[in-house]
Amino acid sequence: MKIMQGYINFIDNNSERFIVEVFDFLRHKSISSQSEHKEDVRNCAKWLANHIHSLGLENVRVIETNGHPIVYADYLHSPNSPTILVYGHYDVQPVEPIELWDNDPFEPLLKDGKIYARGSSDDKGQLFIHLKAIETILRTNPEKAPNIKFVFEGEEEAGHSHLEDFIRENPEFLKCDTVVISDTEWFAEGLPSICYGLRGITFLEVKVIGPNRDLHSGSFGGAIDNPIFAISEIISKLKDKYGRVCVPGFYDEVIELSEEERKEFARLPFSEKTYCSELGINNTYGEIGYSVLERVWARPTIEINGIYGGYTGEGIKTIIPSYAVAKISARLVPRQDAVEIAEKIEKFLLEIAPPTVKIEIKRMGGGNPVLTPIDSIWVQKARDSLKLAFGVEPVFVREGGSIPICETFQSVLKAPPVLIGFGLPGDNIHSPNENFSVTNFIGGICAISIYYTLLGSNS
Ligand code: BES
Ligand code: MN
Ligand code: MN
Repeated sequence: MKIMQGYINFIDNNSERFIVEVFDFLRHKSISSQSEHKEDVRNCAKWLANHIHSLGLENVRVIETNGHPIVYADYLHSPNSPTILVYGHYDVQPVEPIELWDNDPFEPLLKDGKIYARGSSDDKGQLFIHLKAIETILRTNPEKAPNIKFVFEGEEEAGHSHLEDFIRENPEFLKCDTVVISDTEWFAEGLPSICYGLRGITFLEVKVIGPNRDLHSGSFGGAIDNPIFAISEIISKLKDKYGRVCVPGFYDEVIELSEEERKEFARLPFSEKTYCSELGINNTYGEIGYSVLERVWARPTIEINGIYGGYTGEGIKTIIPSYAVAKISARLVPRQDAVEIAEKIEKFLLEIAPPTVKIEIKRMGGGNPVLTPIDSIWVQKARDSLKLAFGVEPVFVREGGSIPICETFQSVLKAPPVLIGFGLPGDNIHSPNENFSVTNFIGGICAISIYYTLLGSNS
């Protein structure tokens, strides 16, 4: 492919600049879930819009919502070709615990072939691949540019996306033939992967309330219930000791894995021993009768993401706390529905709460699971592009994580999503020392340039 050589040359000649630019993007503290960073998120959106504008894309807009802004741009010049919508998120996770970072999470650092910064892999670095890919095409073979719509949100990590309303209210504006997303990871380093399934998610916050103030644990201990004991009792009833969720009706809609799919999972290069030793654990845990990959990719679960209450500072403080809080989330698989499952969990929590405490439950949103068709031409071309760019036949994987808006694209726009991500399992997303491999960043730009060209050529 002669065009491809042109792309490679352009990318080679500009790779240092690409890294300088992505560093600028990464410096914005676009932490969507912390209100103190609201302006940082907005400034990041503006920076992104300006950058996209400088590449020659059109109709660039920062669209206001009741939350953080959406960044939109398009380039629609081939009336007879398909239109691809590219989604990504420019918001990032919080950085705590900050003391475990080796560098400032917002002062990017290039070390051992990796870019260290919050958001480098999830998802600013992966989103940026798409900008540099369209730049590569526009600067080398503009006539090959596909019809493209960029939609970047600033609320993916916050769990309450206003993009969802925007999609429902503007399906004509966002009309497209496929939705391309780079926000997933490879199965292993050197092994390009296409993801065809994401778990859904639903969150709840439970507050267990005891006395109207913290009390002296000597004066009152033994005579009234302790909200931390009560919350522990409640959350311990959510799962049995084998990891099976005890909420009535939780598994009603779950689609069982086919034998064929189980076989495909089993063929992937996975060692439970290495998995445990990399995580520093002795054993895995979970539903009996399912492998690790099956549990994570195709079985639903409930986790407690955090719990607080009482005194946790230095030294002693003898109290019975007034309340305790648990943050709960459930991962969902096809055909579970995020709202229905939240209702079932809420009902169960109310049922099992002991009569000695009050309980308040807040629903915090979520998103449905997705499975994407893998025999579509969109996926086949993604596979060809990865193979051309990296010289390795990609594998098909599912993911335990969630991209809540993905199912909305699929169901409202009726456009099949293609999850062509470039993260690696060691990227530490959501963790200290998040990083992104430069090989995957630069290779990704090449792969996406080829992908856009193949999609645009309509053959
Ligand atoms: N990019 C991730 C999803 C993901 C995780 C893909 C792991 C591949 C591997 C996404 O940004 C994410 O973190 N989603 C959250 C959604 C939540 C905050 C609503 C998740 O899965 O927890
Ligand atoms: Mn992400
Ligand atoms: Mn994330």
